[in-house]
Amino acid sequence: MPHIVVIGAGVIGLSSALRILSEGHAVTIIARDFPSSFETIDATAQINFTSPWGGAHNRLVPPSDPAAAREHRMALKTFAHMRALHARHPEAGITFMKGVEYIEAPDATYRALTAERARAELGMEGFRLLAEDELPEGVTWGCEYDTWCVNPMVYCTFMLRRFAFHGGKILKRDVRDPAEVFGMRDLAAPVDALINASGNGFGDPNVFITRGQTCLVSNTCPATVTRQNADGSWTFCVPRNFEGGTIIGGTKEPDNWDPNPSLEVRERLLSSFAATYPQILDSQGGKYTVMKDIVGRRPTRRGGLRLETEITAGKNCIIHAYGLGGRGYELSWGVAEGVAELLGAQLGAGTSSSTTQRRESKL
Ligand SMILES: Cc1cc2nc3c(=O)[nH]c(=O)nc-3n(C[C@H](O)[C@H](O)[C@H](O)COP(=O)(O)OP(=O)(O)OC[C@H]3O[C@@H](n4cnc5c(N)ncnc54)[C@H](O)[C@@H]3O)c2cc1C
Ligand SMILES: *[C@@H]1O[C@H](CO)[C@@H](O)[C@H](O)[C@H]1NC(C)=O
Ligand SMILES: *[C@@H]1O[C@H](CO)[C@@H](O)[C@H](O)[C@H]1NC(C)=O
Repeated sequence: MPHIVVIGAGVIGLSSALRILSEGHAVTIIARDFPSSFETIDATAQINFTSPWGGAHNRLVPPSDPAAAREHRMALKTFAHMRALHARHPEAGITFMKGVEYIEAPDATYRALTAERARAELGMEGFRLLAEDELPEGVTWGCEYDTWCVNPMVYCTFMLRRFAFHGGKILKRDVRDPAEVFGMRDLAAPVDALINASGNGFGDPNVFITRGQTCLVSNTCPATVTRQNADGSWTFCVPRNFEGGTIIGGTKEPDNWDPNPSLEVRERLLSSFAATYPQILDSQGGKYTVMKDIVGRRPTRRGGLRLETEITAGKNCIIHAYGLGGRGYELSWGVAEGVAELLGAQLGAGTSSSTTQRRESKL
């Protein structure tokens, strides 16, 4: 039985590891950071572990180029997988709800969107263009559709638990070099392939971080709302549910390494969102109740995410799956499927289909 090591226990490592486990392979996750209770994660020491700090919601946006079209297909695969997972595991931390989009200055791709096109070409469910009297001041275009949100650490700890329950092995290590993994003595078996789901993949000159500051409040919200402002800034909320509060966001600051939240930014985010969606204050008697300021580093990559196989000089197989930027959750199951396909091509047609079917019916 092939033994596959996955480096990384963020949303990408976890989804890939579970997907490969369902193929009937032996899988070990090695990582420096693991999902744990959100309330106890150290905001400074674990700032490079992005998955705790994400929203995380899914936004289906009309793709305007081939790379975006590929990501859109991954988002649809993830959507279908989330729906199936949610149906079987209500405790997984996933919630389905309406996604509301408000745009001050929509481009041609948005303006051309009709309910028919959204359904037939983009695979969106429950799509409706908003009428003029439903739009907040300053917004000229709006729509709503069916989408999902996760409470990130509820979801990621569920994924890790599921992985262990189905026989996956876990090792907590800081890895300096891939060669180290192929020679590791505390692994149960020799390593046939390594999946690099290390997030920001430092060492790749195309990777940079995009800082995001958000504010977690205990106000509840029945939808995930996103507003794109004409000056390029964003105003949004992402309900985390499962008593995780609601994220109010957020900034997108390329190459800003400041780990500290700014109170001034917090005030701006909260007041902009309340101006867009005043109902946010209803559940807390007309005000916000702040739980925590959040700073995260989106692992962004020029040219988009890296999903490809590398055969090293020592003939070791590494499949890279990193650089997801602000879409790690949205694209997670699409990336996992891509990893499984690349792995299948490397291992050849040797996988027994009866094993595959047996595992898949369980996972
Ligand atoms: C403010 C904010 C809002 C966001 N909102 C959304 C959203 O709404 N929707 C969405 O889809 N995405 C959102 N994102 C993006 C999303 O959070 C990321 O794309 C995603 O978490 C990346 O996951 P990952 O598994 O690639 O990386 P990470 O979560 O960073 O995981 C990397 C893993 O690799 C391990 N690792 C790295 N290097 C080593 C090493 N040398 N040795 C051992 N282990 C190592 C780490 O310990 C960790 O386990 C948001 C991000 C931010 C910051
Ligand atoms: C985060 O990553 C950067 C770049 O590799 C590194 O310099 C920094 O020490 C890391 N921070 C933490 C808290 O590990
Ligand atoms: C993962 O990819 C990054 C970027 O190329 C690289 O720096 C890192 O060494 C890789 N890690 C492994 C274990 O292959």
